[in-house]
Amino acid sequence: MVIAIDGPAGSGKSTIAKELSRRLGIYYLNTGSFYRAYTLSAIERGIDPEDREKVYDNAKTISITVKDGLICIDGKCVEDKLHTPQVDSYASQVSSDPRIREMVNSSVRKLAEGLDIVTEGRDTTTVIFPDADLKFYFDADPEVRAERRAKDQPELDKEAILKAILERDRMDREKKTGALKIADGAIVLDTTLLTINEVCEKVIKAVKSTC
Ligand code: DC
Repeated sequence: MVIAIDGPAGSGKSTIAKELSRRLGIYYLNTGSFYRAYTLSAIERGIDPEDREKVYDNAKTISITVKDGLICIDGKCVEDKLHTPQVDSYASQVSSDPRIREMVNSSVRKLAEGLDIVTEGRDTTTVIFPDADLKFYFDADPEVRAERRAKDQPELDKEAILKAILERDRMDREKKTGALKIADGAIVLDTTLLTINEVCEKVIKAVKSTC
């Protein structure tokens, strides 16, 4: 079974997907981590993350894998380096290259083969798994999304987080390939006023009704 969750930054995708994975005993796969890893690798190698060709050339030379649910570059776990403000600000740009999107999509599909998984990230319901057993689109007010991010990154200014979220929303919606949008057949959930438990219960109810 594939449960795919799409939606903008801070809509609750990761939190809910992880919790669903725990409650349902299925694998969790965060597709955004792959774009973050390609971005991180470029930055660590002194490549300008805005230089499309160099970022792509670098992407072809590295291997991104998942070990025990953690992202590795060439076998080395980098999970704790994927959420810095620098990676945050360039990952959307890196993810706008269709060649890199193809690399990520094929890795994700390969990893998911034969597994029961919950996967999340923009375009998981539209491009990677359009035939997923269940598709969700989470949304929430931008201010609430910024507050959630601020809780995860208390060292950052809330206003700056909100500005960055709005800018990323714009870039993710305007992408030529893999743009953020609601897939046909997706269940739309506004998580603004819902607790983690309430969202999980709604998803699990939908899962049970498809089994
Ligand atoms: O979900 P996230 O914030 O970790 O994703 C990092 C970036 O990658 C973000 O700008 C959206 C982009 N992304 C994407 O384009 N397609 C996906 N399937 C997942 C993430």
